[in-house]
Amino acid sequence: MKWEGIFGVLFFCVFCCVEGGKKIKIDVKRTKVYGPGLQPDKIAYPVQYFFIEVFDIKGNRINKSVGNAFKVQVEGETNRGTLCRVWTQVLDRYDGSYIARYRTYQTCKGTSIHVLYNNQQVADSPYKIEGPIYAEDCYCPVGDIKTWQDMAGCPATYPQIHQDLLPFHDVELGEVLQHATKRFNQAGARSFCNYVIKENKVYRKCYGQHVGFNMFMDNMLHSLVRKMRLPDIEFITNLGDWPLVNPKEEPLIPIFSWCGSEDTADIVMPTYDITEATLEMMGRVTLDLLSVQSNNDIPWSKKKSQGFWRGRDSRRERLDLIDLAREHKHLFNASLTNFFFFKDEEEKYGPKEKHYKYQVNIDGTVAAYRFPYLLGGSSIVLKQDSPYYEYFYHDLEPYIHYVPFKRDLSDLVEKIEWARSNDEKVQEIARNGRLYVQENLMPKDIYCYHAALFTEWSKRLKSQVEVREGMEHIPTPENEKRFGDCQCHRLRNRDEL
Ligand SMILES: *[C@@H]1O[C@H](CO)[C@@H](O)[C@H](O)[C@H]1NC(C)=O
Ligand SMILES: *[C@@H]1O[C@H](CO)[C@@H](O)[C@H](O)[C@H]1NC(C)=O
Repeated sequence: MKWEGIFGVLFFCVFCCVEGGKKIKIDVKRTKVYGPGLQPDKIAYPVQYFFIEVFDIKGNRINKSVGNAFKVQVEGETNRGTLCRVWTQVLDRYDGSYIARYRTYQTCKGTSIHVLYNNQQVADSPYKIEGPIYAEDCYCPVGDIKTWQDMAGCPATYPQIHQDLLPFHDVELGEVLQHATKRFNQAGARSFCNYVIKENKVYRKCYGQHVGFNMFMDNMLHSLVRKMRLPDIEFITNLGDWPLVNPKEEPLIPIFSWCGSEDTADIVMPTYDITEATLEMMGRVTLDLLSVQSNNDIPWSKKKSQGFWRGRDSRRERLDLIDLAREHKHLFNASLTNFFFFKDEEEKYGPKEKHYKYQVNIDGTVAAYRFPYLLGGSSIVLKQDSPYYEYFYHDLEPYIHYVPFKRDLSDLVEKIEWARSNDEKVQEIARNGRLYVQENLMPKDIYCYHAALFTEWSKRLKSQVEVREGMEHIPTPENEKRFGDCQCHRLRNRDEL
């Protein structure tokens, strides 16, 4: 026993120099590696991801960065016998934990995942993956939604879904559609789509003038049907930011929307912003809820005790904030930008907000979809009171996850002053916000929410689901043939496709 202990120390600990010259002895075997990305053959995600938590030789969790010595290698063979093309990335959360993620582009077999710290294998690395790993664009459902949810470890449902669907049962979608076109589509005023999922294929017909945003819903549905068999369902998706349904107007119309509000009765689902950032992770989109967590390299003590805000002039209070900031220069750094999406600016100029302790969140036309990104960052969020909400807001508590201020900004200065004199509490709130994002807004969670929503919704439909006249079949995009066919083993012995 003694010898094993000594061997452990000899072989598995690495000295790492940290701030102040104090050495931390990292134990690569005690260091924890966990997360869905270690079982990529079970569930496909656009990007596979897992977490690394660093421990020292005494078994203590290390709570600051140990540098960028973690490497992840994913090695496998394509159906053609060549090496798989895999893009890997390790994100430092600067708290002694790391997010490793990788994206595959074709089916990979005989894969092993190496997690290395200064070339030493960490925890149980290398991880041998038994089954093939399928890329995001491979159509290869594991089974029905329930099977998928169980494999992924999803909650069966969510309080927000329960709440949203409470008024609906025995829904006849044909009638709903008639009311919706009459009420919302006069002169094409509102844009929405009627979707049908039948035998795991996607069909839709859209109404209104601006229907371009249907691509976000299409993309998410396609991503879902590649992974699981959805029940036959039919629903209506609002393509605008504003929720539509007046709760007092009979009959109540069930409509799925990206943003909800306290005075409407829409059924909320994850915003197009979050779903697109999930689907396009490590691709087109550079800011997502994983990458935002590594925006933390400036120690809290070096951050400015000021409120930071950037955004467009899409709401009166945003202009008021600029005025307020001029009056209280020592408390704010706020200015308007011309960029349609704030993220574009970040991509061009690099994240600036991490230099500030307090992030001010003010509604845009509706809820500011930046809120989850601010929450997952390393600062605290001061959030304007708002009737608007995204699907997860009701999980959050003021003074636990964020600091609220009044809608008219009348107590914002007071709140910033409060934050300046309660630094410990503020740090704790910032940590809680981050933790919430880590535990609830990861790619897996975005799929889980959709899975639960569609399952619950399917139970409320009375009408037979049929492809309606005038609907268009939206085929799932072909996987990239140049990298080899996806060759889903689950479909091989079936007649389909
Ligand atoms: C990190 O751990 C050390 C020792 O356990 C502790 O003194 C320190 O406060 C911790 N820092 C944070 C940010 O949790
Ligand atoms: C406000 O923030 C920007 C971006 O970090 C910075 O360039 C500028 O100097 C700041 N302004 C003040 C007055 O601190």
